[in-house]
Amino acid sequence: MITLELSGVNKIYSGAYQNQVLFDINLSFEAKTCSAIVGESGSGKSTLMNIMGILDTPTSGEVTIASNIVSSMNRKQMAEIRNRTIGFVFQFHYLLPEFTVLENVLIPHLIHNRSQSGQVLNRARNLLDIVGIAKLEKRLPTQISGGEQQRTAIARALMNNPSIILADEPTGNLDSVTTQNVCRLFGEIKKEFNTTFIVVTHDRTVASHTDRIVEVRDGRIISDKLNTKIVPQTR
Ligand SMILES: Nc1ncnc2c1ncn2[C@@H]1O[C@H](COP(=O)(O)OP(=O)(O)OP(=O)(O)O)[C@@H](O)[C@H]1O
Ligand SMILES: [Mg+2]
Repeated sequence: MITLELSGVNKIYSGAYQNQVLFDINLSFEAKTCSAIVGESGSGKSTLMNIMGILDTPTSGEVTIASNIVSSMNRKQMAEIRNRTIGFVFQFHYLLPEFTVLENVLIPHLIHNRSQSGQVLNRARNLLDIVGIAKLEKRLPTQISGGEQQRTAIARALMNNPSIILADEPTGNLDSVTTQNVCRLFGEIKKEFNTTFIVVTHDRTVASHTDRIVEVRDGRIISDKLNTKIVPQTR
């Protein structure tokens, strides 16, 4: 089943001068797969991710998420589907500094609900347990390590049980052991929650853990290959 599809997507940033950064992108992502997007700095990867996550709109072309055509939605509907379907993990994880680890994980829930039930609290705690930092729930982001902050961000991305996780350089500032752990964690999450992962990375270790590698150059897809180096996972 296709969960996310881009067809004929172009992106032109207009300002003092026009800058086309994506050219006729056609991509579709099967549910429950993990894809890497690779390419040089400035090639358009983050722009592509922002469009896939409905954080930005294409200049032309169509984005379809879980059978919903994004261009036919109003802002409220877009926010709703974004919150319900997509979890984001960014390189700089944007945890809120004055909130604890547990509160940060609860934020996606609190955006649309004023309070949290015991059940919701249990889910947040369970997610912290899955990412291995249950003991740190009362700490502030400044009181934990970079890798632990990253894992908090992953738990937060999972809070609303999204069908798609978009991760932009999720291991960008992590050492190689922590990077391996994040990759393993993504694999476990995929198995347990049937999540679709799309991960921008410049890290070969991360890319080698995915099912598919899409390469972007100067705003165009220049290669799109199944990753044959790994043992295929059962879907
Ligand atoms: N708001 C903007 N206005 C104009 N140009 C932009 C804007 N945002 C990005 N760009 C340009 O679009 C191109 C693609 O940027 P993008 O951030 O998608 O690259 P990237 O592949 O994610 O790079 P990196 O690996 O460095 O993060 C770059 O040339 C960049 O300068
Ligand atoms: Mg980028």
